[in-house]
Amino acid sequence: MTVADTAVANPPTTAGAAELLAAAEHEQIVSCVDRESGLRAIIAIHDTSLGPALGGTRFFPYASYAEALEDVLRLSRGMSYKNAVAGLPHGGGKAVIIGDPARDKTPELLRAYGRYVQTLGGRYVTACDVGTFVADLDIVGETTAFATGRSLERGGCGDSSVLTAYGVFQGMRAAAEHVWGTPSVAGKRVGISGVGKVGRQLAQHVLADGGSVVVADVDGAAVDRLRAEHPEVEAAASTEELVALELDVFAPCALGGALDPATVEALSARIVCGGANNQLVTEGPGGTADRLAERGVLYCPDFLVNSGGVIQVSDELHGFDMERARRKASEIFDHTLEVLRSADELGVTPAAAADHVAEERMARGGRTPWVAQAGSSDARAQA
Ligand SMILES: NC(=O)c1ccc[n+]([C@@H]2O[C@H](COP(=O)([O-])OP(=O)(O)OC[C@H]3O[C@@H](n4cnc5c(N)ncnc54)[C@H](O)[C@@H]3O)[C@@H](O)[C@H]2O)c1
Repeated sequence: MTVADTAVANPPTTAGAAELLAAAEHEQIVSCVDRESGLRAIIAIHDTSLGPALGGTRFFPYASYAEALEDVLRLSRGMSYKNAVAGLPHGGGKAVIIGDPARDKTPELLRAYGRYVQTLGGRYVTACDVGTFVADLDIVGETTAFATGRSLERGGCGDSSVLTAYGVFQGMRAAAEHVWGTPSVAGKRVGISGVGKVGRQLAQHVLADGGSVVVADVDGAAVDRLRAEHPEVEAAASTEELVALELDVFAPCALGGALDPATVEALSARIVCGGANNQLVTEGPGGTADRLAERGVLYCPDFLVNSGGVIQVSDELHGFDMERARRKASEIFDHTLEVLRSADELGVTPAAAADHVAEERMARGGRTPWVAQAGSSDARAQA
């Protein structure tokens, strides 16, 4: 996942940490300090109605503790919705480590962090996020049984962008079925903004399906890499230029906040379906999702279609099996179709319908906080 995500994901707040804590509806919020390694982290467990909380660890130079707290509260809540809508037996949690990963990340600090994750007995299972990578989770996993996103050599699932891109493509196929009556983008023109790990693999799925691809990326080398493999891919000079082209599908795969007002007004695409997190700039009634619907653009909720990555890491808890994880990620096709159909039936946006599905599942799961079963010797299996 990218630092880019945080561009709109970390709005400055005027609330102090005490006010944020008092207002939070999270089950558990843990402040972690290790004086020797300099670790300062916050783990937030939003909801465990559906099972142990699962979500990544963000390593980021927050300007203040309150800013870090606000971010972890928001991100962990988002994970509850993502895991619920994906049909995973997991609640939502997230952690932030406060610091500059380039300067402050040390094996000692990561091991100290792992010890804190372990103290939660499996109520929180961690993974990679902005500023943390597979190699880091290998180290975290030295002190906790509840680290996923580790390397294949350590029994982990490796790079989660593989199933993220695959899942986004399943969501895109479902949207195509909903709009054009056929689960394929063959003959369609798909614009992809951001061809990093997710966008590049998404482009390959679209091409293999018979669609054409036009891309934009601020990093020219990323575009060149893709075009070296697939010379038929077109390149636009910027995302602004890309969205103004005649497209059938627009796939934001770079920054959070991709669907800003200018982009929404400029879009000619009938479908928006991409891997980036937090695509909607304003949420709720009167927000970006409503405006997209008014313009006749079908928006596939980001947390629904990009859940392939969390599906991939969650499989690691059972001894990673790529084919089993891929089968589970294939369900994103059905889940997306259900959400799009129920949005039509209820007369709401797909974003609202996806929220509704997640909230119903959490409510059905019951509100009893998840606890590890006493007496089990296999911590990883419990999770
Ligand atoms: N990797 C995963 O498993 C995963 C899972 C869920 C969600 N996501 C989300 O998907 C998105 C992409 O993730 P990734 O892992 O491919 O990241 P990445 O860093 O590999 O790729 C992001 C790409 O976007 C480009 N970019 C940045 N700003 C841009 C802009 N203004 N216009 C066009 N391109 C721009 C970068 O140059 C880079 O090539 C992120 O929002 C991430 O949070 C990723």
